[in-house]
Amino acid sequence: MPKRTLITSALPYANGPIHLGHLAGAYLPADFYTRYLRLKGEDVLHISGSDEHGVPITIAAEKEDISPQQVVDKFHIQNQSTFDRFGIDFDYYGRTSSKTHRETSQDFFNKLNEQGVFKKKTEEQLYDEDADMFLPDRYVKGTCPVCGHGEAYGDQCEKCGSSLSPTDLIDPVSAITGNKPITKKTEHWYLPLGNYQDWLEGWIESRNNWKANVTGQCKSWLNSGLSDRAVTRDLTWGVPVPLPEADGKVLYVWFDAPIGYISATKEWAEKQGDPDLWKTYWQDDDTRLIHFIGKDNIVFHCIMFPAILKQYGKYVLPDNVPANEFLNLEGRKLSTSKGWAVWLDDYMDDFEPDLLRYVLGSTLPETKDSDFSWKDFQVRVNSELADILGNFVYRTTSFTQRFFDGEVPAPDDLSDTDIAALAAINQQKELIQRAYDSFKFREAIAETMNLARTGNRYFTETEPWKTRKEEPQRCKNTLYVCTQICGALSLLFQPVMPKKMALLREQLGIPHQTPWEQINDHLVPAGHLVAEQEILFHKIEDDVVENEIQKLNDKSAAPTGKETNFPPLKKTTTFDDFMSLDLRAGKILKAEKVKKSKKLIQISVDMGFDKRTILSGIAEFFSPEEIIGKSVCVVANLAPKKMMGIESNGMILMGEDSENQLHFVETDAEPGSPIT
Ligand code: 2FM
Ligand code: ZN
Repeated sequence: MPKRTLITSALPYANGPIHLGHLAGAYLPADFYTRYLRLKGEDVLHISGSDEHGVPITIAAEKEDISPQQVVDKFHIQNQSTFDRFGIDFDYYGRTSSKTHRETSQDFFNKLNEQGVFKKKTEEQLYDEDADMFLPDRYVKGTCPVCGHGEAYGDQCEKCGSSLSPTDLIDPVSAITGNKPITKKTEHWYLPLGNYQDWLEGWIESRNNWKANVTGQCKSWLNSGLSDRAVTRDLTWGVPVPLPEADGKVLYVWFDAPIGYISATKEWAEKQGDPDLWKTYWQDDDTRLIHFIGKDNIVFHCIMFPAILKQYGKYVLPDNVPANEFLNLEGRKLSTSKGWAVWLDDYMDDFEPDLLRYVLGSTLPETKDSDFSWKDFQVRVNSELADILGNFVYRTTSFTQRFFDGEVPAPDDLSDTDIAALAAINQQKELIQRAYDSFKFREAIAETMNLARTGNRYFTETEPWKTRKEEPQRCKNTLYVCTQICGALSLLFQPVMPKKMALLREQLGIPHQTPWEQINDHLVPAGHLVAEQEILFHKIEDDVVENEIQKLNDKSAAPTGKETNFPPLKKTTTFDDFMSLDLRAGKILKAEKVKKSKKLIQISVDMGFDKRTILSGIAEFFSPEEIIGKSVCVVANLAPKKMMGIESNGMILMGEDSENQLHFVETDAEPGSPIT
């Protein structure tokens, strides 16, 4: 049995706020597990922090017209405080822009370089001449060679999930200028993952307690054969490659980010006043290392990082990587760029963390994608938390208050029904424990709620309001048994709803530090005083969730489910009037938001015969990046018009659907072609 557990939660990019998708992927399950182990008195350390490098950060900085440092400073602080407010129990929340991290990741690079592991290769890569830079990862977009999706990125196609290199893309365009990139030679350091293929196959085969979705993805990578992966990039933002000949190059973000777990642990140890303590967690075989991540991070945590750790030597390897699938929202794919997301801070402005912890925990995408909907949130809060758990606790404590002056009655001559209800405590504890130990948090939560269900049913069946007068000892037995179940629930539900359960323990007079092993069928002794009852969970009214759904629809361009409501036809026009409009095909070359305008995007369009600037009021529907490269229809002879000091020369045609979502009117015709 390992002596300690090191839990890591994926380092979120510090380029935006935390939403429910983040929570469901990694942070909530990691927090349940951490709290469960702490309750069991185990030595556990939970590490996470901000991933502050890579193209996601620089693109966010360019969008906002601020520096990458400003972006990460803002979101590191904001996200740390969001997690704290939500009760995610990190021991340390680091950041990859720290000095410790730079040194640690450079040390990894140097060590592997000295071991002669890397292959140095000069290859043709995509280059944007106007921006004067290479186009790694998300700086280039194009058509996915695997599924034909037209908006694939240089590192990945989000539609089919394929991992790509920029040069794999068909018809690539620069995400910065919209230019067609040229190719140019550049030198990079590659990790020859193929060298680890045999070892990885054996190692993954030996991980017999991993989730099927995780081993499945690993095997599919291994089956297609592992190839060399560049661990450096031509970028200015990141950890500099620590070699004199690598000026202007940084480490690939997926080389340095997982090392962030190690650097954050070093910083934590430093803070404990015992700088070497990190080694106990990373370099002692008695540690169990568990990575909580979302499914898009599997290859990095199960193939690339283990290969790096193994090659470096001395380090423990992940014992398990219980990756989750994705969370959808109201039946649709979550999309931050389209505003289709629930931000955690917004949620907490309206509701308590524990409600979401319970609801999201009950529907985690553990084996397949799952869905969060506000209606389901309301149903689970009202019919499970309020009607089952809250009602059971309230019935028990208020009855004890009213008829026993708050004193837990002494049991005597228990009936079979009483004994069966008491026995449910240990039976459920066993099931719950088994579920937590195998990372089945949905099951752990369902089985915990089942104990409250048993308690509630037992209360109803034994009818203490009747036996109180006729058979007082039977009434006492009921209240004794119910109090034991309430006591057990206050600890069994602790990992999921820490605030509410602390309140319940206060009411029941159970010490907060009571460990898991003391959960049993006689936790609250007879004679013990139960405090004035308080309603633990209030029901959520219909108008409250309707308001949340409305907010979501308002913020996004999402379907509202409203009746189609197209405007009436305009009055008849003549053929000649129509023919006076000159419609042409054009290709979007560049796009950027107009400063200080919420709606306008400044678009540079290739019209074949000229290049022109057009302002379009679509910024609330599209990001500039996603429209670059589109072939559109343009009203080409519209009189110029000045807006926000910029002259617009034409109009790009859009379709507006019944949900007010805009769609480009696209054409295959080459730029300049008349549209007739
Ligand atoms: O996918 C992401 O959001 C990455 N920032 C996760 C990094 S996890 C770790 F390796 F740091
Ligand atoms: Zn694809």
